[in-house]
Amino acid sequence: MLRHEVVVVGAGLAGQRAALAAVEAGKDVALVSKLHPLRSHSGAAQGGINAAVGKEDSVDTHIYDTVKGSDYLGDQDAIEFFCREAGPTVVEMEHFGTIFSRSADGSLARRPFGGAGFPRTIYAADRTGLALLQALYERLGTEKFTMYEEWDLTSIIAREGRAQGIVAFDRRHGNFEQIAAPSVVIATGPTGRIYGRTTNAHSCTGDGIAAAYRAGAFLKDMEFVQFHPTALLESGILITEGARGEGGILKNASGERFMSRYAPHVLELASRDVVSRAIFTEALEGRAFPGGYVHLELMHLGRERIESRLQEICDFCRTFAGIDPVTQPIPVSPAQHYMMGGIGTNSQGETNIPGLFAAGEAACVSIHGANRLGGNSLLETLVFGKQAGIAAAAHAGTAPSPALRPADLDNEVAHIRAMSDRGDGVGPETLRTGMQETMDTLVGIYRTPDELTEALRRVRELKTRYASVRVVDQSKVYNINLTDALETGHMLDLAEVIVVGAIARTESRGAHTRRDFPRRDDVNWMKHTMARNTPDGPELTYTPVAYTRWEPKERVY
Ligand code: FUM
Repeated sequence: MLRHEVVVVGAGLAGQRAALAAVEAGKDVALVSKLHPLRSHSGAAQGGINAAVGKEDSVDTHIYDTVKGSDYLGDQDAIEFFCREAGPTVVEMEHFGTIFSRSADGSLARRPFGGAGFPRTIYAADRTGLALLQALYERLGTEKFTMYEEWDLTSIIAREGRAQGIVAFDRRHGNFEQIAAPSVVIATGPTGRIYGRTTNAHSCTGDGIAAAYRAGAFLKDMEFVQFHPTALLESGILITEGARGEGGILKNASGERFMSRYAPHVLELASRDVVSRAIFTEALEGRAFPGGYVHLELMHLGRERIESRLQEICDFCRTFAGIDPVTQPIPVSPAQHYMMGGIGTNSQGETNIPGLFAAGEAACVSIHGANRLGGNSLLETLVFGKQAGIAAAAHAGTAPSPALRPADLDNEVAHIRAMSDRGDGVGPETLRTGMQETMDTLVGIYRTPDELTEALRRVRELKTRYASVRVVDQSKVYNINLTDALETGHMLDLAEVIVVGAIARTESRGAHTRRDFPRRDDVNWMKHTMARNTPDGPELTYTPVAYTRWEPKERVY
């Protein structure tokens, strides 16, 4: 059995930052990842990272924008802490070697982003996530820690009221392994692949969120799913909000700049929930192009600006859509992009299970509430990754030594091996496709009780069928069929939590829009949904939202 003091699962920005903090605190750290760290989904973040730097902007404005963007569901104490950490975090990342884009005077270049009262999104062209990831990887590489790469998390072991370690599957050698650790940090990112149309990488299957849920952690606000307004038609590749920040405009099939109907003051730079609903409404009311897409126009910005600030976008459009954004409009429509919900934590990354921590998109602190502002996600990974690493290291210094049992591994292996041993059953790909179709068609931007009820029926039926999931591939090494089966099981559990939470929340707030309850209901719903795993499915309870300075107001854009 392997032993470490802190095991961090997930090697994107949050996981690497947590690992660095725990190493710096003198702990023996293991970093477990199903991907090479530089292939983590953090690297797909394009547009930038928010920080109020410079004289004209203020941390208070960043706090207010985040509170308002969250539709007042964000915890204001956590948001204050988060926004105050932004400047030092960006400076630290620059010192680690991140090459940010510059203004003519040499200062950090900033671009406007949706829902922000000031252009405060600092960027590295349209590869900001990748630039940060490379710098952090190089910094972490100067420290001593143990890397377990291409390992799939299968479960978190929690016993006697605390986390004691994990079980993971080593893809390369085909072995299941136990890692004993008094502190476990989950930083496995989102679960966007629950949907078929998503900007998320194929690796975003919510493994850590599901493992924490099964181990007894509360999942918070899972019904809030963000749809990014501008994903490339067909492929769903992200077309960064930075494109609108640079001056890109949206037009419907009649050539009308339709955002003036929905957000007359800020137009394309309204928050994402507002712009996504606007595009969806244009399609529903017959003003979009056939199939429901609209045009994002950049042509008026000129070749130099487009090709220097939006290099990846040019490549994506030319390669995957066969169009040149310098001379042609980009066909876009909304796609699932982000989960505001996740494993419930405080600002130190602590969950309700001692020794279990979470950070990044796998976690819900909650700073994003019902809708996240663009540019706050990269910041979240770094700010709360660091906090989780510090807290995990401190816990490891005082917690009793973990006492894993051989049965912890044997039971897990027997359960998973049964998938390969059965003579018949359903393939994970069939279940995954069924789940994605269900979520795409019934749990989208607008939600109705009938659709949600039908979605729950279908997800539960898929879960029942999952009990006889069959892994046909008998290979020991790189058995992707087995990985697919494990991931699909994780996502089905999380899809159920999303739908149950969405049925229960009888209001419209942020990204959760109910046709039958079109207004925000601050009297009854100013509270976080907490979901706990039971044999009968998710059990929901609620906790209050933390206020400091801002009373809920109607959001006007
Ligand atoms: O549009 C974007 O570049 C995405 C940024 C984000 O999700 O924060």
